[in-house]
Amino acid sequence: MIVGLDIGASFAKAILVDKNLKILDKHILPVKEPKATALRILDFFIRRSGKEYRDIIDAVAVSGGGSRFIGEEILGLPARRVEELGALGAGGLLLAKRSEGLIVSAGTGTAIVAAYEDGKVVKHVCGTGVGGGTVIGLSRRILGVTKFEVLEDMAIKGNANRVDLTVGDIVGGSVGIVPAEATASNLAKLTYESDLNDVAAGIFNMVSQTIGVVAAMAARACGLEDSVIITGMFAKSRISSKIICETARLFGAVAYVPENCEFSNALGAAALVIREGDA
Ligand SMILES: Nc1ncnc2c1ncn2[C@@H]1O[C@H](COP(=O)(O)OP(=O)(O)OP(=O)(O)O)[C@@H](O)[C@H]1O
Ligand SMILES: [Mg+2]
Repeated sequence: MIVGLDIGASFAKAILVDKNLKILDKHILPVKEPKATALRILDFFIRRSGKEYRDIIDAVAVSGGGSRFIGEEILGLPARRVEELGALGAGGLLLAKRSEGLIVSAGTGTAIVAAYEDGKVVKHVCGTGVGGGTVIGLSRRILGVTKFEVLEDMAIKGNANRVDLTVGDIVGGSVGIVPAEATASNLAKLTYESDLNDVAAGIFNMVSQTIGVVAAMAARACGLEDSVIITGMFAKSRISSKIICETARLFGAVAYVPENCEFSNALGAAALVIREGDA
């Protein structure tokens, strides 16, 4: 068995898979210090399923920005470092059960790759610094709230149209390919009096729409507009995933959030290590 470990800027995600990439266990921890978090997550797996685990785990496939802090060995197990973009491409395709697609990592920041031939070929297309971390940072300063679940609840209660300027607000109807209710300017109506729930909704809207637009443009540039796969923790949120997919559709791309979307990198890292062993 292989552990796929993705140490991101905000969260570490780990999965335990067998040689056929069947997911046997999974766990997420916030990243405080990358190496300590990696050790805690592995320790959790080992404890949860008995001590003999250590004998049956062949290797730990490590990816994500924090993987650079992991040496050649972790908790006595061999650690294999896997380049993040390759892991993202391979993992996204596996989760979506596709052979090619545009994979979007909606994490702290946003990275986008085009993956072909079951992930054997992965190209870095683009990305944006607007991501889940932007939601957290803006909300911390503007709303005094940092807990994601609290922000989500606020955004569900709020109405982004009270802080965003719509196309209809400006021109009285639709324009070109966008309907009247599309956003013309995110947060343009924000005032000191704005309801805090509306502000939360507006922040989610701005970040998710940005990801949706960038994803659609990248997909069209690569001819992958029928296969946009959204991954990352931020995509787990019902609000963000809905807005990302709707926005992508508005600009001509079909986006989809697979189950276990937050484990894309971890799964991809494990898959690439298994493939390497088989080669
Ligand atoms: N419970 C949750 N559900 C959905 N999204 C969440 C939740 N908690 C935090 N988030 C969002 O997910 C973001 C982090 O996503 P993710 O864990 O995929 O990023 P990362 O891998 O740590 O970062 P990166 O890939 O950019 O290095 C946070 O910035 C936050 O906006
Ligand atoms: Mg990540």
